[in-house]
Amino acid sequence: MPGVVFAAVNEEALFDLEVRLLLEALFQRYHHDFRDYALASVRRRVRQAMQRLECESVADLQNLVLHEPDAFAQALPFFTVQVSEMFRDPAYFLALREHVAPVLRTYPSLKIWVAGCSNGEEVWSLAILLAEEGLLERTLIYATDINPQALRAAESATYEARRVGGFSKNYQAAGGTGSLSDYYSSAYGRAVFDRHLRKHVVFADHSLATDAVFSEVHLVSCRNVLIYFNAGLQDRAIGLFREALVHRGFLGLGSRESLRSGANANAFEPLVAAQKLFRKKA
Ligand SMILES: C[S@@+](CC[C@H](N)C(=O)[O-])C[C@H]1O[C@@H](n2cnc3c(N)ncnc32)[C@H](O)[C@@H]1O
Repeated sequence: MPGVVFAAVNEEALFDLEVRLLLEALFQRYHHDFRDYALASVRRRVRQAMQRLECESVADLQNLVLHEPDAFAQALPFFTVQVSEMFRDPAYFLALREHVAPVLRTYPSLKIWVAGCSNGEEVWSLAILLAEEGLLERTLIYATDINPQALRAAESATYEARRVGGFSKNYQAAGGTGSLSDYYSSAYGRAVFDRHLRKHVVFADHSLATDAVFSEVHLVSCRNVLIYFNAGLQDRAIGLFREALVHRGFLGLGSRESLRSGANANAFEPLVAAQKLFRKKA
């Protein structure tokens, strides 16, 4: 067009622009909000989704997921990392046992929120720890995530038998007082965790990006989730935890996560700094 000057935009900037449009489209169409996720990781995930769904461009991917909910269901796991294991970072669970359980014991009933529970490994680890501390009978665990497939897997409490050796090692290192095999039965190459543990867990779809607080709780364990958020969204999530926690409630984060400065972060003090365990200030 004569007289119109277009600014030069490199391919990378165009890719980012398309990614932002895709995230906006996903939000408008499905109310899944990835707009404030850390960009570097979103870029990687969009590329993986494009490959899996055989899309030549981000625009193609956007078109596909907007028009075909099944394609969105296939793309969703790429936006949510499901890596987990039972008693992941055993020292965290040991610190919970040694520093948090004694205080939890002073409450007649307990509510715990595992935010971003993935396939349930963290949930069942906590349930076992609480059982061994004599606290499970008085506890209700809310386990939430945005990935419906992960929530279904978590609820089934079933894991491939080949993973259980690693889980058992972690369990021992986390101060387990028995044997992990006390809590599951094996069948057809799978380990199925105990019905007794399951009575104390409620699974629900809940997004830290768009949803509000749903209950008052004594402990929030939200590990390896904030790492995928930008600073603003991290602060939103910390605000939810602050609101949900009872007076002097506990917050546990992942080993690579921290509370940044800000009004919500300042509402917490370190309890076991090395294990990212915090306590709400008085
Ligand atoms: C890497 S897994 C962490 C699993 C477990 N907490 C652990 O530390 O082993 C991250 C989980 O966060 C979930 N997630 C991502 N965005 C979320 C959001 N906005 N609200 C709640 N969960 C979210 C993902 O679906 C995924 O299951």
